[in-house]
Amino acid sequence: MGMGDQIRKQLAAAALKRQLERVSGEAQAQLDGAAATRGASRQTASWDARASFEAMPLYQQVKLLKQMGETLQVASPFFRVHEGMAGATTTIGAREYINYANYNYLGFASDPGVMASAQAAIGRYGTSVSASRMVAGERPIQRELERALADFYETDDCVAFVSGHATNVTVIGALFGHGDLIVHDALAHNSIVQGAQLSGAKRLAFAHNDWRELDALLARVRGEYRNVLVVIEGLYSMDGDYPELERFVEIRRRHGVFLMVDEAHSFGVLGETGRGIREQCGVPSSEVDLWMGTMSKTLAGCGGFIAGCQPLIDMLRHLAPGFLYSVGLAPALAAASLAALEALKAQPERVAMLKARGQQFLHEARAAGLDTGTSAGYAVVPVITRSSLKAAQWANALFDEGINVQPIFYPAVEERAARLRFFICSTHESGQITRTVMALARIARR
Ligand SMILES: Cc1ncc(COP(=O)(O)O)c(C=O)c1O
Repeated sequence: MGMGDQIRKQLAAAALKRQLERVSGEAQAQLDGAAATRGASRQTASWDARASFEAMPLYQQVKLLKQMGETLQVASPFFRVHEGMAGATTTIGAREYINYANYNYLGFASDPGVMASAQAAIGRYGTSVSASRMVAGERPIQRELERALADFYETDDCVAFVSGHATNVTVIGALFGHGDLIVHDALAHNSIVQGAQLSGAKRLAFAHNDWRELDALLARVRGEYRNVLVVIEGLYSMDGDYPELERFVEIRRRHGVFLMVDEAHSFGVLGETGRGIREQCGVPSSEVDLWMGTMSKTLAGCGGFIAGCQPLIDMLRHLAPGFLYSVGLAPALAAASLAALEALKAQPERVAMLKARGQQFLHEARAAGLDTGTSAGYAVVPVITRSSLKAAQWANALFDEGINVQPIFYPAVEERAARLRFFICSTHESGQITRTVMALARIARR
């Protein structure tokens, strides 16, 4: 591509980005406005906007993203169809790719033993439990999974939900309310933010991984609130770095706050035996009030869980709307996650292999001059491109070379933080990683 072409594309990208910022702002304002006026008898929104989906700022946002791809002549990297099991490699359009776009971290989602357990559960219980557990009753496999997770976390009990995202939303939304404060890391997952918003509690954020800022914030405002919840993640899914958990538990004790740790990406990944951030940082399980995890990553299934003390789990099991008013976890998914958990305990060498591959990726990428941000080199390594256009172009160039990786761009991250995000699995081979980094370094030099 000539220099003139490149400059024209950058100008078009900048113009579209400004439009996107405007409609994103309008979409947010409309959502905030709707929340603020909910229940009010008089609303000021125009009838037109409510009668037509096309007129909604949200739809304008979707249209602009599509238009951006067309103007910049970059094929959309989204909604690609995988034709079989996706792990370290995958088949898309009859071609095999090295795959970095999913978080089957220890390879259990395509493990024969895990698949056999899921199939056996279908044979015994069918494909769905077809009702809420409290109302219509349980299946032994659901309780077995919860018991095994509670034992893994050394907590009294555990409760499983049908979605990881919904777990954060419903748990935070149900436990906290007006008069409470929720403080989260600035890079917290959307589900944490949504849960905090739903709760009606005051919501504040502290700079990423900055426990000093959190400490100072709590010193200023702790006294103004009844219950305070601090939410952090075990391994951050965009940056691949992790918090100093020992600092956060010390703050928890000193300020008398609840601490919740979302282990979506650290479960089975951090710590010598995959016990997560507490093993990595040498912190006893009892120093954290809510251990949250998802079954969709290491655990080869789908759903989320909370492990903690009995009163907490009793409250959630009886009152969390996302549990009470939602169907119970499908038997096949519970069985798959239970089998994956047993396999994780029996095969810590998978955790060691994942770490080796993550470190290899990080070190080779750094040596090639690529910007890997603050990644610690475990399951997530970003390569920061600093422009959405470049992220899309690099991802498409890699795709042409048989490598599938997801670009992350504005508005998911700030424009200057646009990136490719590599999910590393224990099943990636060393040669695949070297080939990927070499291809990427070549593309980056173009
Ligand atoms: C930190 C974090 N929490 C929660 C979730 C939601 O989990 P799920 O995709 O299993 O619904 C994700 C999703 O990737 C996540 O990254």
